[in-house]
Amino acid sequence: MKVILDCDPGHDDAIAIILAASKISPLDIVGITTVSGNVEVEKNTLNALKICDIIGLDDVPVAQGATRPMVKKSEIAEEIHGETGLDGPNLPLTPKKAATSQHAIDFIIEQLHNSAEPITLVPTGPLTNIAMALVKDPSIKKNINEIVLMGGGTFGNWTPAAEFNIYVDAEAAKVVFESGILIRMFGLDVTHQVLATKETVGHLREINNPVSEFVAELLVFFMQAYKDHFDFPGGPIHDACTVAHLLDPTIFEFEHVHVAIETKGEHTYGMTAVDRLGVTGREPNTYFATGLDQGKFWRLFKKAMESYSD
Ligand code: BDR
Ligand code: CA
Repeated sequence: MKVILDCDPGHDDAIAIILAASKISPLDIVGITTVSGNVEVEKNTLNALKICDIIGLDDVPVAQGATRPMVKKSEIAEEIHGETGLDGPNLPLTPKKAATSQHAIDFIIEQLHNSAEPITLVPTGPLTNIAMALVKDPSIKKNINEIVLMGGGTFGNWTPAAEFNIYVDAEAAKVVFESGILIRMFGLDVTHQVLATKETVGHLREINNPVSEFVAELLVFFMQAYKDHFDFPGGPIHDACTVAHLLDPTIFEFEHVHVAIETKGEHTYGMTAVDRLGVTGREPNTYFATGLDQGKFWRLFKKAMESYSD
């Protein structure tokens, strides 16, 4: 299956990339595109390039995307991801490869046009690039297999009502959710069930390869940020859920529901209105993840990390 990972790495974005590139993954990563989100897009791009170096993803192009949301001004999450967007582990000072000169939006459009098979888009940051690509060239829709995204939920983490990725660019999210493309949504309801803890870090250290050590360092920082900020007992590895689902579609459970994006509310801007009881009578547009088989998820996670020892 061909995928484009559209991201703002980001600790959990990094883990999503690492799962997708692991030796147990059948995914063909066509490219990594970056967007303004956790930190400024230039920093997210640099982080993506450095992650590629750490995991040996030399041949996958990285294309830099939108510098800001479609309508409102940028908002970043330095308090969760640190000043670099990937604080914690030691990172290479300068990455081996450079980003492509092509803008992410054009990269996405070109890849979708040139691919003989449909491509799955996997956005784990604000949806600006995906929405802009759809606005620039709606004909790409026919070659998008599915959009498997992390965002939203029935509660918020940036405001009481809104999750960060959707809040940052709710107008973009509206374009995507109203596009008619099949959407699979990993929101906070499910990602908060995927908590990395001290035990997870211990297991990673036992695996003892450079990638598992890198992920352990990422999690140590990320878990502390969640402790300080939300008083959480672990770090929800939100973005990794998207790729885990693509590696094993039997891990997560879904409800087929209608999801609308709030772009007007004073207290609810960026909220995803998830119609779980079907009260609107609107046609479902989203497979909304509600739960998972913990054992299956963590076994897959471990196997993926161990595969970097080979
Ligand atoms: C989302 O926001 C970012 O901070 C994470 O990388 C994740 O994509 C969780 O709300
Ligand atoms: Ca992210």
